[in-house]
Amino acid sequence: MTEVSAGRVDAFADPGRKVIEVGGIEIGIFQFKGAFTAFENICPHLGGPVCQGLMLPRTVDDVTQDNVNLARSFSKTHHNVICPWHGMEFDISTGEHVTTKTLRLRKVPVRVEDGEVFVTVPDRKHQHVHAWFTGERQRPPRERGTSDRT
Ligand code: FES
Repeated sequence: MTEVSAGRVDAFADPGRKVIEVGGIEIGIFQFKGAFTAFENICPHLGGPVCQGLMLPRTVDDVTQDNVNLARSFSKTHHNVICPWHGMEFDISTGEHVTTKTLRLRKVPVRVEDGEVFVTVPDRKHQHVHAWFTGERQRPPRERGTSDRT
């Protein structure tokens, strides 16, 4: 693994992000309330460039015990990134999907030293594995003209 600079802290908006590419590996570095997190730019759904999606505060519903929705507001403590391919939302502080906690972005070590942000680049690009979501192993490609429907 190689540690590289992602730039000065003051070059990041808060909330904000930067996506860098090192040796073919893309990493999204996020800042939220002064804390930095970093993730590989591969969506666990179907491999989209998740870190480049729209960033928004989490939407919070105020719901009674009888399931009556009283109001909707934006969270002041959670900020999400929305994958540009199919719209899955992930918390930029944890990398977790907003409702399915087992579905998460792959973390990359990040640290700040003397006002500069450093990330540790993995040795190799991780392949998208849909099994993160389904809990199943990815099936081998089907032969042309065959179907797995029964
Ligand atoms: S690839 Fe990200 S939501 Fe589908």
